[in-house]
Formats: sequence, structure tokens, C-alpha cells
Amino acid sequence: MLEVKQINQFYGGSHILRDVSFTAQIGACSVVLGRNGVGKTTFLKCLMGILPIKSGEILLNGKDISKMSPEQRVRAGMAYVPQGRDIFSTLTVEENILIGMAKFSGAKTKKVPSHLYEIFPVLDEMKHRRGGDLSGGQQQQLAIARALASEPSVLILDEPTEGIQPSIIKDIGRVIRKLADNGDMAIVLVEQFYDFAEEIADHYTVMSRGQVVAEGLGADMPAKGIKDLVAI
Ligand SMILES: Nc1ncnc2c1ncn2[C@@H]1O[C@H](COP(=O)(O)OP(=O)(O)OP(=O)(O)O)[C@@H](O)[C@H]1O
Ligand SMILES: [Mg+2]
Repeated sequence: MLEVKQINQFYGGSHILRDVSFTAQIGACSVVLGRNGVGKTTFLKCLMGILPIKSGEILLNGKDISKMSPEQRVRAGMAYVPQGRDIFSTLTVEENILIGMAKFSGAKTKKVPSHLYEIFPVLDEMKHRRGGDLSGGQQQQLAIARALASEPSVLILDEPTEGIQPSIIKDIGRVIRKLADNGDMAIVLVEQFYDFAEEIADHYTVMSRGQVVAEGLGADMPAKGIKDLVAI
């Protein structure tokens, strides 16, 4: 389980995250909603250690990871699918997925586990193609497969639906829901679109100007009052 206690982050003199507290449980999908520029990506980068926090705590299964490097956090069980995906366009699909397995050693680092291709059959079909030749939606699926290759206990996704066609958004939603239901992973999903979030959220958190302004159970996600804080 991931617990964030009152973290603060600054870019220079700008106070971006203000006492943000947040919890993500194993077996659940915790969605973070909010408009452009409220600090969602900054929050995720702090979770991964890509950006330092000024104060507060980030606990993974009770252990403070807030001073760890991103690599150490990956070893500890965190995986990150960045906004814009960041796949390696000149490497093949298979090579991209293997990068996600860098934390392991020996033979395990050389073969893509078959269950990843079962989750995303399109990646199996395209495993020898270059990442850059894939569509945006396929690249998003590749970025998720790469993150899953590290066998995370916390999977963090930053706007996986951004710029993606509706049919693939549905597929990705189903995969995320299934991963949460498998019960061995906590999912932290940043999302701007209310409808997608509502469908898969077990828990929701709304951010505005670097602060948490609402939270609750996904089943109780009130459209009114939230819809004006997120993109529709
Ligand atoms: N490297 C940086 N240096 C200074 N300010 C930054 C930097 N990156 C982001 N910011 C500012 O921090 C604030 C939060 O940005 P962030 O990218 O976290 O927002 P976001 O909620 O992810 O937005 P979006 O929905 O557009 O992805 C914004 O005001 C942004 O301009
Ligand atoms: Mg962002």
C-alpha cells in the first residue's frame, strides 16, 4: 500500500504541491483528477523520485521511500507510465518491454513474459516492429506493458487516454480494471476525463492548484461539483 502524507513541492519559488495526502490500496484503482496544470504530473514525479519533495512522507508498505532514487523505487515495486508515453522509437516493441525488466538479473531479463502479450495481443503481433512505427494507442499499450514487466506492486499511469482513439481507450480501461481486480497491485491513475475515471475508480481524489479539494469512493463520485474541476 502507498501512503502519501502532506507532501510539498516547489519549482523554484512556485509552491506547486501543497500538503498533498493520498492513499492507494492494493487491489484498487485510485484516480487523481484535475484540470491542466494543477500539479498532477508533478505529484506522480514526486511519487517516483524524479522530483524531490520539500517536506512530507511517501510510504510504501510502511517504509519511507521519499529519499530513494527512481531506480531504487522501481526495485521497491513502483512502476511509472509517463504522460506522453516516452517509448524508445528506434527500439523494437520487444526491446522496449525488456527495458522494463532491467531490475531483474540473469535469464529473466532476456524474455518477455507471455502473460504481457496475452494482456496486449497487438504487441505480440508487432513485437519486431520499431516502437516509433506504432500508433499512439499501441504506444500507450507498450508503455503499460513495459511498466508491468517490472512486476510492480504500485502501477502509476499519467493520462493514458490522452490523444488516443476511443476503442483503444476502452481496451486500456478494461486492462487497468482487470489489473486492479487481480488484487496484487495498487493502481494510481491520473486522468482528466470524468467519464473514464468514473468507470474504473475505486477511489477518487480531485486536485486543484496543487491541493486535494475532494476525495471519496469511486461509487460515490458526484458528477456535480467535480465536473467543473475536471475536463469533461
Ligand atoms: N519544470 C518545471 N519548472 C517550473 N514549473 C513547472 C515545471 N513543470 C511544471 N511546472 C508548473 O507546475 C504546475 C503543475 O504542472 P503539472 O505538469 O504537474 O500539471 P498537470 O496537472 O499534470 O497538467 P496537465 O493536465 O496539463 O498534464 C504548472 O503550473 C506548470 O506550469
Ligand atoms: Mg500532467
